[in-house]
Amino acid sequence: MPRKPLIAANWKMYKNPTQTLAFFQEFLPMVAGHTRDEIVVCPPYIDLYVAIAEVKGSLVAVGAQDLHWEKEGAYTGEICPGMLLDIGCTHVIIGHSERRQYFGETDDIVNFKLKAALEAGLTPIVCVGEVLEEREAGLTEDVLRRQCLRAFHAISAKKAAKLIVAYEPVWAIGTGKTATPQLASEAHSLIRGEAAKAFSPVFSDNLRILYGGSVKPENVKGLMAETEIDGALVGGASLDPKSFAAIVKY
Ligand code: PGA
Repeated sequence: MPRKPLIAANWKMYKNPTQTLAFFQEFLPMVAGHTRDEIVVCPPYIDLYVAIAEVKGSLVAVGAQDLHWEKEGAYTGEICPGMLLDIGCTHVIIGHSERRQYFGETDDIVNFKLKAALEAGLTPIVCVGEVLEEREAGLTEDVLRRQCLRAFHAISAKKAAKLIVAYEPVWAIGTGKTATPQLASEAHSLIRGEAAKAFSPVFSDNLRILYGGSVKPENVKGLMAETEIDGALVGGASLDPKSFAAIVKY
């Protein structure tokens, strides 16, 4: 079964609700009727309500950039899976490198969040990727193996059915340096191998692995030509409706 490509936008801490509304009013007509790829936009929490109201009746889905793993509780400032579901969110990014780097998110936390998202019926996009020093020290494979192993820990193939993974080499995020299609493809194969071990070979054949890190309208076609690359997670270039629509239509 061919894997349906997925192009996801990660807006990070950009755009308020007014700007979100303006984005969708321009973006949606540009991708109307586009069925080849799944399209997901992940704005900040505060914009989710507006985004979900706007995409109603379109083929575009809306995701969050993070979640807390508990069902509810005294966790000031946090958002739980049930809240995301209630508002109409379908996807959630987990373990983005900026969360790992700046907010102390560990492999164990990624695992808790992944379990909680799957349990709730959300589609998780779990991010893995090495930093520059790790790549230069020849540690890329070890790092990706560890991140996958720990993220997938104690989750059954059945539970993990909706899982999506994003390979995001940290040195390529927001730097303008994209991994070559070949290099990304090698990392994707390794991740697929880890998924085969953690779940099953059939599961890993169906697993969608996105590439993220300076994806732009100019380089997306080359990346998407790789059979190992099933989509893209786009930061900076997803903020402009024309640029994100051009990426979706690679
Ligand atoms: P970038 O970000 O496209 O701006 O490099 C990608 C990401 O962090 O998901």
